Amino acid sequence: MRESTMIANALSPVMGAEILDLDLTKALDSATFEAIHQALLDHLVIVFRNQRLSAAQHVAFSRRFGDLMVHVKTEYLLPNQPEVLVLSNKKHSDGRPVGFEDAGRYWHSDMSYVEEPPLGSLLHAIEIPPEKGDTLYCNMYMAYEALSAATKRRLEGLQASHSYLASFEGKTKSGYARDTLTEEQKAQLQEVTHPVVRTHPKTGRCALYVNPGFTVRLEDLPKDEAAELLGELLNQVSKPEFQFRHVWQPHDLVFWDNRCTMHHATPYDTQFTRHMHRTTVKGDRPFAA
Ligand code: SIN
Repeated sequence: MRESTMIANALSPVMGAEILDLDLTKALDSATFEAIHQALLDHLVIVFRNQRLSAAQHVAFSRRFGDLMVHVKTEYLLPNQPEVLVLSNKKHSDGRPVGFEDAGRYWHSDMSYVEEPPLGSLLHAIEIPPEKGDTLYCNMYMAYEALSAATKRRLEGLQASHSYLASFEGKTKSGYARDTLTEEQKAQLQEVTHPVVRTHPKTGRCALYVNPGFTVRLEDLPKDEAAELLGELLNQVSKPEFQFRHVWQPHDLVFWDNRCTMHHATPYDTQFTRHMHRTTVKGDRPFAA
């Protein structure tokens, strides 16, 4: 196979790389596809600059990495392209929101509340505000590796429960989300358990897999101990030394690995438009080797 000439420039010592020399509207050969996949594994978050992709091209590129998932909030999917979740503060002419306005304004790994959570997500910036609205990422390998040996031993074999519903209701109560879920949407959202430390299926490295957004409980420990340990882990994954800030440029396409990162959307001045399209690539059931 011909070698790819693609270059991924690291954006920080923690994670993130920028890829400048690719036009994703064009067909990708296998060597380039493999180079992109390797860049994702090496850098965890990869940024393709200046991609003028239609929704169909975004979907086609995402599909190279696996089947795409459809988000439970069906009202925010593109009508003719349900694999695309719209994150936006735009409104339809009748005042209805075009997309999820304040999606992901908390640390989370996308859809960790399903049995087979996504391997990655691809977010395309179609319109962005002149400042703010950055996305923060946390390197969950580093967060795990920095734990003490004693804490790592305590985490062996431990499982945590993840729930969209519990976190959604909590956020609604605290006034964060003005959104609602239908009974049909609620019925699709059963709580799931995953290992607290997961082995990345491609790199074999261990990453913490708990997040403030959706992890509700550690299992099989006395209640107080479980709450204290989860608090300790959530504190660990919130430390700035494991973080990378992505400052959006128009037409960036950012691809992140949900198996070893979590992320946090940040606020912006809503007199400006922030309009993004997200696809979500299906992954495997998390395991601990
Ligand atoms: C998300 O959680 O997918 C949203 C990230 C963002 O809007 O910055």
